[in-house]
Amino acid sequence: MSVIPSSTQTTRDSRHAELRARYPRSRALYERACRSIPGGIHLSGRALVDFETTPSYFERGLGARLYDVDGHEYVDYLMAFGAQLLGYAHSEVERAAQEQGQRGNLLSLNHPLHIEFLETLLPLFPGAEMGVFFKTGSEATTAALRIARAKTGRRGVARAGYHGWHDWCLPLEPFVPRGLDQQVLEFRASDPSSLQALFAVHPSDIAAVIIAPEMVLPHDPEVFHELARTTRQHGALFIMDEVKTGLRIAPGSVSERIDLVPDLITVSKALGNGWPIAATLGSREVMQAATGMHYSATFHGETAAMAASLATLAVVQRDGVQIKLERLGNRLIEGLNALVRARHVSAIAYAEPLPAMPFFKFTEPDAALNREMTRHFFREVLARGALLHPRHMWFLSAAHTEADVDATLRVCEAALGQALELTRGL
Ligand SMILES: Cc1ncc(COP(=O)(O)O)c(C=O)c1O
Repeated sequence: MSVIPSSTQTTRDSRHAELRARYPRSRALYERACRSIPGGIHLSGRALVDFETTPSYFERGLGARLYDVDGHEYVDYLMAFGAQLLGYAHSEVERAAQEQGQRGNLLSLNHPLHIEFLETLLPLFPGAEMGVFFKTGSEATTAALRIARAKTGRRGVARAGYHGWHDWCLPLEPFVPRGLDQQVLEFRASDPSSLQALFAVHPSDIAAVIIAPEMVLPHDPEVFHELARTTRQHGALFIMDEVKTGLRIAPGSVSERIDLVPDLITVSKALGNGWPIAATLGSREVMQAATGMHYSATFHGETAAMAASLATLAVVQRDGVQIKLERLGNRLIEGLNALVRARHVSAIAYAEPLPAMPFFKFTEPDAALNREMTRHFFREVLARGALLHPRHMWFLSAAHTEADVDATLRVCEAALGQALELTRGL
């Protein structure tokens, strides 16, 4: 990690110019992309802070390290939005995928790996007896909902969290079919009475309640159990959307950790350590409703990602990965909180929802100051070699070490000092 001398003389303008000079290739690529991609980016590639003073193009990843196109190295805590559980370019995972690819990654009809993949996956998730496989989390949640509709004969859904980009996930947007907002209802995950209120108005329309576990903050197992009880009392199915948390949380899912058996569970992200793979799992009784249902696509049966996933699952079970993630996450959270306490800064680090997925935010009562502290802090962290996202939860991986976390805490300490200096007088 590079060391940038902190100077109380540094003006905001000159610091801006210094940071801008760090990322010329990133900026040039963004400008080029604006000519061929609407808005210049795919949405997950949005600017960390801005396209001027923070990096946006990366060309290599290895373990917990990420390398940008301007030659800077980062300890990454985004890990491709949680898809990289073991670290970038993990040798066992990549070898398995490559060997499978050499046999033809996508064949006509069925492949024995389809069965082996699900047979390996099912015992890892509570209540999972049958499953279907996909490429993305959005597909897995959409299928879960479709299965719930087929099973209950109802159309509505109550949701809490981000479940993907498909029409039903964005019911209020002007570009989705009219009327979706009548069928897709939202409740406040941490407040079970808000779900009861929905059922009071729609006692027999709701096919499923779907919740992403990171929506219950602070994490409270009893809230999930109460939501599940309310859901079942009204004849609906309870779906745990563990696209982010599946495999990443000790023991293997939030459902297992809180001793909850959902009717359906969706998983993706960490499952393939960077290879596109997802699944919807559930009890035999519920999943039978998927028989013959149209949820298939040309690439669902692709097997290199399944081979990658089987290798990932083997490493996770062998190495007790989730325990390590939790320990490192706690170290980062405690270190950050100690740091802001020592500097009397209004900010908090916390688990979102559990320590393997930490986050940090400034909590200055003055909104303008809060915004500026956030902007300067994250720019300075990036300039010192740690990729911490300012708006999205972070992810530890099996490739991170205690030394990485301690180095990142030193980076945060220096960045905090500089952010305080740059926001002085605001
Ligand atoms: C809880 C949850 N569900 C579903 C999705 C959608 O997954 P994907 O982006 O793979 O379509 C996400 C993505 O972040 C997610 O976090």
